[in-house]
Amino acid sequence: MRFGTLPKRLFVTGTDTGIGKTVVCAVLMAGLRGFYWKPIQSGLTEETDTQWVKRATGLPAGHFMDEAYKFQNPLSPQASAAIEGIRIDMAALSLPPGAMKRKSLIVEGAGGVMVPLNESHFMLDLIKQTGLPALLVARSALGTINHSLLSLEKLRRNGVEVAGVVLNGPRNPENREAIEYYGNTEVLAELAPLPEINHRRLEEIFSQWAG
Ligand SMILES: Nc1ncnc2c1ncn2[C@@H]1O[C@H](COP(=O)(O)OP(=O)(O)O)[C@@H](O)[C@H]1O
Ligand SMILES: [Mg+2]
Repeated sequence: MRFGTLPKRLFVTGTDTGIGKTVVCAVLMAGLRGFYWKPIQSGLTEETDTQWVKRATGLPAGHFMDEAYKFQNPLSPQASAAIEGIRIDMAALSLPPGAMKRKSLIVEGAGGVMVPLNESHFMLDLIKQTGLPALLVARSALGTINHSLLSLEKLRRNGVEVAGVVLNGPRNPENREAIEYYGNTEVLAELAPLPEINHRRLEEIFSQWAG
């Protein structure tokens, strides 16, 4: 698969928190002008991911769906919810009505695949529940092979279709090759460190990726 043939409805997950999922979502949103949904926002001390993508892309509010859960503390969803006396209910995380009718739907997870949502569910279960193919965002630098292969294996073993990988950070052709070979997947795009992130730059990156 090439980036240009990527499904227009995706679940964007990552090997970690702070790995670049939101930036990759913003690139996809700038190019596809679709519909963004962050089902669980864990951490409200800074801008939410939805606010960030809205600001970076300049897209109107109609492109953004409200979160199902928002928690104050920047912890795992399970831990952050527990502090507020809340248990995350998988039924409350169904795709918003009409979401699958949108020509493009970009869903962003929280943390990685094995982040706990409650006592018995993980982010993986939410990915499965949406039925969407997963796009994995991983760092380009040292450590990425292990994290990427573990994440890919976990997704596939649980029946999640993997659309491919986006590597974030300075180019590293050896790591890229290793992830493609051992992970039996494709690195669909590489995101260089960006000195500034704005609407125009995001659209340019999308066009470059789409080739
Ligand atoms: N390629 C990049 N260039 C510049 N800044 C980046 C890049 N990738 C991520 N960042 C910054 O790093 C931080 C973490 O990225 P983010 O997309 O929010 O990660 P995640 O959504 O996986 O938690 C953010 O401040 C983001 O703007
Ligand atoms: Mg994010």
